[in-house]
Amino acid sequence: MYFDTAPKTDRKDFFNYEEEFEGVVKAIRRERLIVIKGLRRVGKSSLMGVVANSLNRPYEWIDCRAVHSKEGMAALLNKTMKRLAFKLSLFSRIEIKEINLPHIALSLKEEEDSEEVIRKSRIKALLFIDEAQLLLSYGFDRWLAYIYDRLPSLTTIIAGSQIGLLERLIGKNNGSKALKGRSYYEITLHPLSRAKALTFLMRGFEEVGKSVPMEELNEAVNRLGGFMGWLTLYGHKRVEKSHGEALEEVEKLAQSIVADELFEFLERQRNKKAYMEILKGMATYSLSTWEQINSYLISKKLTHSRGFLSKALKKLKEHSFIIEKDGKYIIADPLVRTTLKNL
Ligand SMILES: Nc1ncnc2c1ncn2[C@@H]1O[C@H](COP(=O)(O)OP(=O)(O)OP(=O)(O)O)[C@@H](O)[C@H]1O
Ligand SMILES: [Mg+2]
Repeated sequence: MYFDTAPKTDRKDFFNYEEEFEGVVKAIRRERLIVIKGLRRVGKSSLMGVVANSLNRPYEWIDCRAVHSKEGMAALLNKTMKRLAFKLSLFSRIEIKEINLPHIALSLKEEEDSEEVIRKSRIKALLFIDEAQLLLSYGFDRWLAYIYDRLPSLTTIIAGSQIGLLERLIGKNNGSKALKGRSYYEITLHPLSRAKALTFLMRGFEEVGKSVPMEELNEAVNRLGGFMGWLTLYGHKRVEKSHGEALEEVEKLAQSIVADELFEFLERQRNKKAYMEILKGMATYSLSTWEQINSYLISKKLTHSRGFLSKALKKLKEHSFIIEKDGKYIIADPLVRTTLKNL
Protein backbone atom coordinates (compact mmCIF):
# COMPACT_ATOMS: atom_id res chain seq x y z
CA MET A 1 0.00 0.00 0.00
CA TYR A 2 1.45 3.33 -1.06
CA PHE A 3 -0.15 5.20 1.84
CA ASP A 4 1.20 2.91 4.55
CA THR A 5 3.30 5.22 6.69
CA ALA A 6 5.95 2.73 7.86
CA PRO A 7 9.18 2.74 5.81
CA LYS A 8 8.56 0.48 2.82
CA THR A 9 10.15 -2.95 2.57
CA ASP A 10 8.14 -4.45 -0.28
CA ARG A 11 8.94 -3.45 -3.82
CA LYS A 12 5.31 -3.38 -4.87
CA ASP A 13 4.65 -0.58 -2.34
CA PHE A 14 7.70 1.35 -3.44
CA PHE A 15 6.87 4.08 -5.95
CA ASN A 16 9.37 5.28 -8.56
CA TYR A 17 13.15 5.31 -7.80
CA GLU A 18 13.72 2.27 -10.05
CA GLU A 19 17.07 3.52 -11.26
CA GLU A 20 18.23 4.22 -7.74
CA PHE A 21 17.13 0.75 -6.66
CA GLU A 22 18.93 -0.93 -9.59
CA GLY A 23 21.98 1.24 -8.98
CA VAL A 24 22.29 0.07 -5.39
CA VAL A 25 21.64 -3.59 -6.28
CA LYS A 26 24.34 -3.52 -8.96
CA ALA A 27 26.78 -1.70 -6.71
CA ILE A 28 26.35 -4.35 -4.01
CA ARG A 29 28.05 -6.81 -6.39
CA ARG A 30 31.19 -4.74 -6.77
CA GLU A 31 31.53 -2.24 -3.91
CA ARG A 32 32.13 -2.59 -0.21
CA LEU A 33 30.46 0.68 0.72
CA ILE A 34 27.31 2.30 -0.60
CA VAL A 35 26.17 5.72 0.50
CA ILE A 36 22.52 6.81 0.16
CA LYS A 37 22.03 10.52 0.62
CA GLY A 38 18.87 12.61 0.55
CA LEU A 39 16.95 15.26 2.42
CA ARG A 40 14.67 14.31 5.29
CA ARG A 41 11.57 12.27 4.42
CA VAL A 42 12.66 11.62 0.86
CA GLY A 43 12.59 7.81 1.22
CA LYS A 44 16.14 6.69 2.12
CA SER A 45 15.17 4.11 4.74
CA SER A 46 12.53 2.73 2.37
CA LEU A 47 15.07 2.31 -0.41
CA MET A 48 17.34 0.42 2.00
CA GLY A 49 14.44 -1.67 3.28
CA VAL A 50 13.34 -2.66 -0.22
CA VAL A 51 16.91 -3.54 -1.22
CA ALA A 52 17.40 -5.59 1.96
CA ASN A 53 14.20 -7.47 1.31
CA SER A 54 14.74 -8.06 -2.40
CA LEU A 55 18.10 -9.79 -2.21
CA ASN A 56 18.48 -13.25 -0.86
CA ARG A 57 21.49 -12.41 1.25
CA PRO A 58 22.09 -12.49 4.99
CA TYR A 59 21.85 -8.97 6.32
CA GLU A 60 21.65 -6.92 9.49
CA TRP A 61 20.18 -3.49 10.09
CA ILE A 62 21.32 -0.79 12.51
CA ASP A 63 19.47 2.43 13.24
CA CYS A 64 22.02 4.65 14.95
CA ARG A 65 19.28 6.70 16.58
CA ALA A 66 18.67 3.74 18.89
CA VAL A 67 21.70 4.62 21.00
CA HIS A 68 22.71 7.68 22.96
CA SER A 69 26.27 7.06 24.01
CA LYS A 70 29.57 5.78 22.77
CA GLU A 71 29.21 2.68 24.94
CA GLY A 72 25.71 2.09 23.62
CA MET A 73 26.97 2.31 20.05
CA ALA A 74 29.83 -0.10 20.78
CA ALA A 75 27.40 -2.61 22.28
CA LEU A 76 25.01 -2.27 19.35
CA LEU A 77 27.75 -2.80 16.76
CA ASN A 78 29.06 -5.78 18.68
CA LYS A 79 25.64 -7.39 18.92
CA THR A 80 24.93 -6.72 15.27
CA MET A 81 28.15 -8.35 14.10
CA LYS A 82 27.36 -11.39 16.23
CA ARG A 83 23.92 -11.68 14.71
CA LEU A 84 25.33 -11.29 11.22
CA ALA A 85 27.91 -13.99 11.86
CA PHE A 86 25.15 -16.26 13.12
CA LYS A 87 23.08 -15.66 10.00
CA LEU A 88 26.10 -16.34 7.81
CA SER A 89 26.64 -19.57 9.68
CA LEU A 90 23.08 -20.53 8.98
CA PHE A 91 23.54 -19.74 5.31
CA SER A 92 26.86 -21.42 4.81
CA ARG A 93 27.94 -23.64 7.66
CA ILE A 94 24.89 -25.60 8.54
CA GLU A 95 25.53 -29.22 9.29
CA ILE A 96 22.48 -31.26 8.58
CA LYS A 97 22.69 -33.96 11.21
CA GLU A 98 19.81 -36.03 10.12
CA ILE A 99 17.22 -35.62 7.49
CA ASN A 100 14.18 -37.20 8.90
CA LEU A 101 11.33 -35.21 7.52
CA PRO A 102 9.32 -33.49 8.80
CA HIS A 103 11.97 -32.94 11.52
CA ILE A 104 15.30 -31.64 10.35
CA ALA A 105 17.83 -31.25 13.14
CA LEU A 106 20.37 -28.57 12.46
CA SER A 107 23.41 -27.71 14.44
CA LEU A 108 25.97 -24.95 14.23
CA LYS A 109 29.62 -25.59 14.68
CA GLU A 110 30.94 -24.35 18.00
CA GLU A 111 30.87 -20.60 18.37
CA GLU A 112 33.64 -18.71 16.66
CA ASP A 113 34.71 -15.11 16.78
CA SER A 114 32.01 -13.29 14.82
CA GLU A 115 34.38 -11.15 12.77
CA GLU A 116 36.35 -14.22 11.86
CA VAL A 117 33.19 -15.93 10.62
CA ILE A 118 32.28 -12.92 8.48
CA ARG A 119 35.84 -12.54 7.22
CA LYS A 120 36.08 -16.13 6.08
CA SER A 121 32.64 -16.25 4.54
CA ARG A 122 32.37 -16.85 0.83
CA ILE A 123 28.80 -15.60 0.88
CA LYS A 124 28.35 -11.86 0.70
CA ALA A 125 26.56 -10.34 3.68
CA LEU A 126 25.00 -6.89 3.90
CA LEU A 127 25.07 -4.41 6.73
CA PHE A 128 22.57 -1.54 6.55
CA ILE A 129 23.30 1.46 8.76
CA ASP A 130 20.56 4.08 8.96
CA GLU A 131 21.33 7.61 10.21
CA ALA A 132 24.96 6.63 9.84
CA GLN A 133 26.26 10.17 10.38
CA LEU A 134 25.86 9.41 14.10
CA LEU A 135 28.72 6.92 13.81
CA LEU A 136 31.00 9.89 13.35
CA SER A 137 29.60 11.73 16.38
CA TYR A 138 30.48 8.72 18.54
CA GLY A 139 33.89 8.21 16.92
CA PHE A 140 33.05 5.04 14.99
CA ASP A 141 34.28 6.24 11.61
CA ARG A 142 37.40 4.17 12.24
CA TRP A 143 35.30 1.10 12.91
CA LEU A 144 33.63 1.59 9.52
CA ALA A 145 37.05 1.79 7.86
CA TYR A 146 38.14 -1.28 9.80
CA ILE A 147 35.27 -3.47 8.61
CA TYR A 148 35.74 -2.08 5.11
CA ASP A 149 39.35 -3.20 5.05
CA ARG A 150 39.09 -6.41 7.04
CA LEU A 151 35.79 -7.94 5.97
CA PRO A 152 35.79 -8.25 2.18
CA SER A 153 32.63 -10.35 2.05
CA LEU A 154 30.63 -7.60 3.71
CA THR A 155 29.03 -4.68 1.87
CA THR A 156 27.88 -1.84 4.08
CA ILE A 157 25.05 0.40 2.96
CA ILE A 158 24.74 3.65 4.87
CA ALA A 159 22.07 6.37 4.75
CA GLY A 160 21.33 9.62 6.50
CA SER A 161 19.54 12.90 6.00
CA GLN A 162 22.24 15.16 7.41
CA ILE A 163 24.02 15.00 4.11
CA GLY A 164 27.08 17.04 5.00
CA LEU A 165 27.73 15.01 8.12
CA LEU A 166 27.35 11.79 6.15
CA GLU A 167 29.87 13.15 3.67
CA ARG A 168 32.25 13.92 6.48
CA LEU A 169 31.94 10.35 7.68
CA ILE A 170 33.20 9.12 4.31
CA GLY A 171 35.99 11.67 4.25
CA LYS A 172 34.65 14.57 2.19
CA ASN A 173 34.81 18.24 3.24
CA ASN A 174 37.82 17.88 5.51
CA GLY A 175 35.96 15.16 7.31
CA SER A 176 37.14 11.94 8.84
CA LYS A 177 40.38 10.59 7.47
CA ALA A 178 39.49 7.02 8.38
CA LEU A 179 37.82 6.09 5.08
CA LYS A 180 39.92 8.32 2.82
CA GLY A 181 40.96 6.75 -0.45
CA ARG A 182 38.41 3.92 -0.33
CA SER A 183 36.11 3.36 -3.28
CA TYR A 184 32.37 3.60 -2.72
CA TYR A 185 29.13 4.00 -4.64
CA GLU A 186 27.11 7.07 -3.85
CA ILE A 187 23.54 7.89 -4.70
CA THR A 188 21.30 10.85 -3.89
CA LEU A 189 17.55 10.51 -3.67
CA HIS A 190 15.79 13.61 -4.95
CA PRO A 191 12.20 14.63 -4.22
CA LEU A 192 9.70 13.65 -6.91
CA SER A 193 8.95 16.01 -9.77
CA ARG A 194 5.49 17.65 -9.70
CA ALA A 195 4.14 15.23 -12.29
CA LYS A 196 5.41 12.18 -10.43
CA ALA A 197 4.16 13.46 -7.08
CA LEU A 198 0.68 13.83 -8.62
CA THR A 199 0.89 10.34 -10.10
CA PHE A 200 1.89 8.92 -6.71
CA LEU A 201 -1.12 10.50 -5.03
CA MET A 202 -3.48 9.40 -7.81
CA ARG A 203 -2.24 5.80 -7.69
CA GLY A 204 -2.38 5.77 -3.90
CA PHE A 205 -6.00 6.92 -3.89
CA GLU A 206 -6.83 4.49 -6.66
CA GLU A 207 -5.41 1.68 -4.52
CA VAL A 208 -7.75 2.54 -1.65
CA GLY A 209 -10.68 3.24 -3.97
CA LYS A 210 -11.09 6.90 -3.15
CA SER A 211 -11.65 9.64 -5.68
CA VAL A 212 -10.11 13.00 -4.89
CA PRO A 213 -10.48 16.17 -7.04
CA MET A 214 -7.46 17.19 -9.09
CA GLU A 215 -7.27 20.69 -7.61
CA GLU A 216 -6.83 19.19 -4.15
CA LEU A 217 -3.98 17.01 -5.35
CA ASN A 218 -2.38 20.03 -6.98
CA GLU A 219 -2.62 22.02 -3.78
CA ALA A 220 -1.17 19.16 -1.73
CA VAL A 221 1.83 18.89 -4.05
CA ASN A 222 2.34 22.69 -4.07
CA ARG A 223 2.40 22.84 -0.30
CA LEU A 224 4.21 19.60 0.53
CA GLY A 225 6.68 19.34 -2.37
CA GLY A 226 7.83 16.04 -3.84
CA PHE A 227 8.83 14.46 -0.52
CA MET A 228 7.60 10.87 -0.25
CA GLY A 229 7.13 11.15 3.51
CA TRP A 230 4.78 14.12 3.46
CA LEU A 231 2.85 12.90 0.42
CA THR A 232 2.36 9.48 2.00
CA LEU A 233 1.19 11.00 5.25
CA TYR A 234 -1.22 13.31 3.44
CA GLY A 235 -2.63 10.35 1.48
CA HIS A 236 -2.95 8.30 4.66
CA LYS A 237 -4.89 11.04 6.45
CA ARG A 238 -6.95 12.06 3.43
CA VAL A 239 -8.52 8.61 3.28
CA GLU A 240 -10.44 9.42 6.47
CA LYS A 241 -10.46 13.21 6.56
CA SER A 242 -11.26 16.23 4.42
CA HIS A 243 -8.58 17.72 2.19
CA GLY A 244 -8.26 20.82 4.39
CA GLU A 245 -7.90 18.83 7.60
CA ALA A 246 -5.43 16.32 6.14
CA LEU A 247 -3.25 19.01 4.61
CA GLU A 248 -3.27 21.14 7.73
CA GLU A 249 -2.37 18.22 9.96
CA VAL A 250 0.53 17.13 7.75
CA GLU A 251 1.82 20.68 7.47
CA LYS A 252 1.60 21.15 11.22
CA LEU A 253 3.39 17.91 11.96
CA ALA A 254 6.03 18.52 9.32
CA GLN A 255 6.61 22.03 10.57
CA SER A 256 7.00 20.90 14.15
CA ILE A 257 9.56 18.28 13.07
CA VAL A 258 11.42 20.87 11.01
CA ALA A 259 11.25 23.41 13.86
CA ASP A 260 12.60 20.86 16.37
CA GLU A 261 15.48 19.99 14.06
CA LEU A 262 16.14 23.67 13.50
CA PHE A 263 16.17 24.61 17.18
CA GLU A 264 18.31 21.63 18.05
CA PHE A 265 20.76 22.78 15.37
CA LEU A 266 20.68 26.44 16.47
CA GLU A 267 21.26 25.51 20.11
CA ARG A 268 24.62 24.11 19.08
CA GLN A 269 25.74 27.26 17.24
CA ARG A 270 27.60 30.07 18.92
CA ASN A 271 26.10 32.74 16.64
CA LYS A 272 22.51 31.53 16.89
CA LYS A 273 20.88 34.82 16.00
CA ALA A 274 22.87 35.24 12.82
CA TYR A 275 22.06 31.70 11.68
CA MET A 276 18.39 32.32 12.30
CA GLU A 277 18.44 35.58 10.34
CA ILE A 278 20.21 33.96 7.39
CA LEU A 279 17.46 31.36 7.17
CA LYS A 280 14.65 33.85 7.76
CA GLY A 281 16.05 36.18 5.12
CA MET A 282 16.23 33.31 2.66
CA ALA A 283 12.70 32.12 3.45
CA THR A 284 11.00 35.49 3.57
CA TYR A 285 12.81 37.49 0.88
CA SER A 286 14.18 34.64 -1.27
CA LEU A 287 17.74 35.86 -0.72
CA SER A 288 19.95 33.40 -2.57
CA THR A 289 23.44 34.79 -3.09
CA TRP A 290 26.26 35.31 -0.62
CA GLU A 291 26.16 39.06 -1.34
CA GLN A 292 22.40 39.37 -0.77
CA ILE A 293 22.56 37.45 2.50
CA ASN A 294 25.59 39.41 3.64
CA SER A 295 23.85 42.77 3.00
CA TYR A 296 20.79 41.49 4.83
CA LEU A 297 22.84 40.54 7.89
CA ILE A 298 24.47 43.96 7.88
CA SER A 299 21.05 45.64 7.59
CA LYS A 300 20.01 43.68 10.69
CA LYS A 301 23.10 45.04 12.46
CA LEU A 302 24.43 41.52 12.79
CA THR A 303 28.08 42.19 12.32
CA HIS A 304 30.17 39.11 12.01
CA SER A 305 33.74 38.07 11.53
CA ARG A 306 35.28 37.57 8.10
CA GLY A 307 34.50 34.17 6.75
CA PHE A 308 31.54 33.65 9.08
CA LEU A 309 28.87 33.73 6.38
CA SER A 310 30.64 31.22 4.11
CA LYS A 311 31.14 28.91 7.08
CA ALA A 312 27.53 29.31 8.18
CA LEU A 313 26.20 28.53 4.70
CA LYS A 314 28.40 25.47 4.56
CA LYS A 315 27.08 24.28 7.90
CA LEU A 316 23.47 24.88 6.88
CA LYS A 317 24.13 22.81 3.77
CA GLU A 318 25.70 20.04 5.84
CA HIS A 319 22.57 19.81 7.93
CA SER A 320 20.40 19.88 4.80
CA PHE A 321 18.46 23.03 5.65
CA ILE A 322 19.64 24.56 2.38
CA ILE A 323 21.11 23.34 -0.89
CA GLU A 324 23.51 25.05 -3.29
CA LYS A 325 22.59 25.07 -6.95
CA ASP A 326 24.38 27.01 -9.71
CA GLY A 327 26.07 29.19 -7.12
CA LYS A 328 22.79 30.04 -5.40
CA TYR A 329 21.58 29.00 -1.98
CA ILE A 330 18.06 27.65 -1.84
CA ILE A 331 15.74 26.26 0.81
CA ALA A 332 14.69 23.14 -1.06
CA ASP A 333 11.89 21.94 1.17
CA PRO A 334 8.75 24.15 1.00
CA LEU A 335 7.94 23.07 4.55
CA VAL A 336 11.24 24.40 5.87
CA ARG A 337 10.40 27.67 4.13
CA THR A 338 6.90 27.87 5.65
CA THR A 339 8.21 26.92 9.08
CA LEU A 340 10.77 29.70 8.98
CA LYS A 341 8.25 32.26 7.77
CA ASN A 342 5.97 31.38 10.67
CA LEU A 343 8.63 31.54 13.37
N1 LIG B 1 9.37 5.14 -2.92
C1 LIG B 1 8.38 5.17 -2.02
N2 LIG B 1 7.15 4.72 -2.35
C2 LIG B 1 6.14 4.78 -1.45
N3 LIG B 1 6.26 5.30 -0.21
C3 LIG B 1 7.46 5.75 0.17
C4 LIG B 1 8.59 5.70 -0.70
N4 LIG B 1 9.64 6.23 -0.06
C5 LIG B 1 9.20 6.58 1.15
N5 LIG B 1 7.90 6.31 1.31
C6 LIG B 1 7.10 6.62 2.51
O1 LIG B 1 7.50 7.92 2.95
C7 LIG B 1 7.73 7.96 4.37
C8 LIG B 1 9.17 8.31 4.65
O2 LIG B 1 9.98 7.29 4.16
P1 LIG B 1 11.39 6.92 4.78
O3 LIG B 1 11.28 6.76 6.25
O4 LIG B 1 11.90 5.81 3.95
O5 LIG B 1 12.19 8.26 4.42
P2 LIG B 1 13.59 8.77 4.98
O6 LIG B 1 14.23 9.55 3.88
O7 LIG B 1 14.34 7.64 5.54
O8 LIG B 1 13.10 9.74 6.14
P3 LIG B 1 13.97 10.35 7.37
O9 LIG B 1 14.75 11.47 6.78
O10 LIG B 1 12.92 10.81 8.35
O11 LIG B 1 14.83 9.25 7.89
C9 LIG B 1 7.28 6.60 4.86
O12 LIG B 1 5.94 6.74 5.26
C10 LIG B 1 7.38 5.68 3.65
O13 LIG B 1 6.42 4.67 3.72
MG1 LIG C 1 15.14 7.33 7.44
